[in-house]
Amino acid sequence: MDFTRKDYPEGFLFGASTSSYQIEGHDFGGAGPTHWDTFAATPGNVVRAEHGGIACDHYHRFEADLDLVADAGFDVYRFSTSWARVMPDGIGQPNEEGLDFYDRLVDAMLERDLKPAATLYHWEMPSALADKGGWTNRDVASWFAEFTEIVSRRLGDRLWSVAPINEPWCVGWMGHFLGLHAPGLRDIRATARAMHHVLLAHGRSIEVMRSLGQDKLGAVFNFEWAEPADDSPEAQRAAETFDGYLNRFFVEGVFRGRYPETVLEGFAPHLPEGYQDDFPLITQKLDWCGLNYYTRKLCAPTDGPWPHQTEVEGPLPKTLMGWEIYPDGLYYSLKRLHEYAGDMPLYVTENGLASPDVIEGGKVDDQPRIDYLNQHFAAARRAMEDGVPLNGYFVWSLMDNYEWALGYEKRFGLVHVDFDSLERTPKASYHALKRALS
Ligand code: FCB
Repeated sequence: MDFTRKDYPEGFLFGASTSSYQIEGHDFGGAGPTHWDTFAATPGNVVRAEHGGIACDHYHRFEADLDLVADAGFDVYRFSTSWARVMPDGIGQPNEEGLDFYDRLVDAMLERDLKPAATLYHWEMPSALADKGGWTNRDVASWFAEFTEIVSRRLGDRLWSVAPINEPWCVGWMGHFLGLHAPGLRDIRATARAMHHVLLAHGRSIEVMRSLGQDKLGAVFNFEWAEPADDSPEAQRAAETFDGYLNRFFVEGVFRGRYPETVLEGFAPHLPEGYQDDFPLITQKLDWCGLNYYTRKLCAPTDGPWPHQTEVEGPLPKTLMGWEIYPDGLYYSLKRLHEYAGDMPLYVTENGLASPDVIEGGKVDDQPRIDYLNQHFAAARRAMEDGVPLNGYFVWSLMDNYEWALGYEKRFGLVHVDFDSLERTPKASYHALKRALS
């Protein structure tokens, strides 16, 4: 890497991120079915209908995986707790085996001097609750509060930080408007309700954890930098709309207690009646805020119904996901998040790329990852020089894993996983980061 720890202020935290369904293996340990299992089992949704049944088998290999995190010199391990593992039916009887797993996992982090940064929900809605409408049902806020309380009572004394929900936009928009993620809906009313209920559930969850005396509570948002595809006012407007429903909706909800006009244009008839009354709960004070950043989007107008906008292919070099590599977008996004979040500490909670790994003689060469990370870490340092209170940076991801609708094909790991033998091989980027952090 072209930086070391010395290029950062004392106490700056480096970390690696993962999520439960993507690595654990949901067939194990009494976890209940989730909407990702059924989404994947429905033809056409996921590459080769792949699912998280075994994934990286982290459930059985977490000790060795945490050794990799610690050996690289990371300070923080960002992981998530699967709702359906903790509560197979989503509410009611918890699964002791599942709670024991997270108990051992957190202890194993502490034994290695890693700070456990938990996300309560990284996308696996228990099927029993999906049957009741999942995020479109307002009751999801109380179901989620119940789950929060179970996790908090069991792990809260040892968690370094907690965020209730990973990337509200993906939960709401990808799952209910684009149909690209579970539950695979394409319905504007379901989307508007899901997006509001995600924030409502976030608020209830924060309230529950505060009442149990927990601190270091935050939120994790994903931003994509929105730019117009050309100089026309129509493209400008398309970019504003995209920016509204992707970037601004959730931060305005949480930090300002309102939704952007550009989004209300499409959502107003569909949001739950009296939704404004929920803002006092949604805007509760947070202790930190996380940004997941990967790319930008070029936006163009369309004739269709709201949002009257589409994405066009940009000219920049792209990752294997087809995402343009645009480090400036991280710089702009951090500055912007800082405007919303004020003085609270910010973290990059995810950043990384899928790249073609070259495997030769037991070594995995992933130079594109090293380059990408160098560029993005540099963009973040620029934001820090401008006064953005960035306190840490966590790479997505520790290891290759289940990349949702793209199955096991897109590899985001610092550590290569052979999905037949499940053998782990640290890539060149892992070794480079280890040198930078030692
Ligand atoms: C983020 C998700 C994460 C992973 C990366 C590539 O949106 O939080 O689970 O899929 O993208």
